[in-house]
Amino acid sequence: MAKSDDKRKKTFLTDVQTLRKRARAHIERGAVTEGYRADRETVLKLLNEALATELICVLRYKRHYFMATGLEAQSVAAEFLQHANEEQGHSDEIAARIVQLGGEPNFSPEGLATRSHAEYVEGENLVDMIKEDLVAERIAIDSYRDMINYFGNDDPTSRRLMEGILAMEEEHADDLVSLLEELGS
Ligand SMILES: [Fe+2]
Ligand SMILES: [Fe+2]
Repeated sequence: MAKSDDKRKKTFLTDVQTLRKRARAHIERGAVTEGYRADRETVLKLLNEALATELICVLRYKRHYFMATGLEAQSVAAEFLQHANEEQGHSDEIAARIVQLGGEPNFSPEGLATRSHAEYVEGENLVDMIKEDLVAERIAIDSYRDMINYFGNDDPTSRRLMEGILAMEEEHADDLVSLLEELGS
């Protein structure tokens, strides 16, 4: 019994001496240790695409917030603003994770719309705007789900970050469907 316990311990953890030695090597890499199993370049590229997606979503929701007019526009505008602020929060979290991984967050306006998976569409009227936002959320949902699968157990922190954001994009999509129903569209 004791023997098999011993065995399990060994397969579960790198021995302490090795852990300590590895941690002391390359301390300048900060959170990126030798045990980091993901392909860092690919992770950084994906996170920068997620960052661009969030930034485009902030811009689109802001445009919609300021352009929402009409009788039913008030509650819709409030929803647009709330989403814009939440997408802003997501972009901050993603940028912080990129830096933690030793990368650089790409905030350049040049190529932003191309790096983003979701599109910037202005929309002709209130219903149009909501529909475009819903499409963008659905794109983000699929693309973040793919990223989460890719990160898997190789980068659990990036995976959990994107899982939290994915859950919120699903809520956003749900909110938008409710708005369309309220407007009878
Ligand atoms: Fe977001
Ligand atoms: Fe969203």
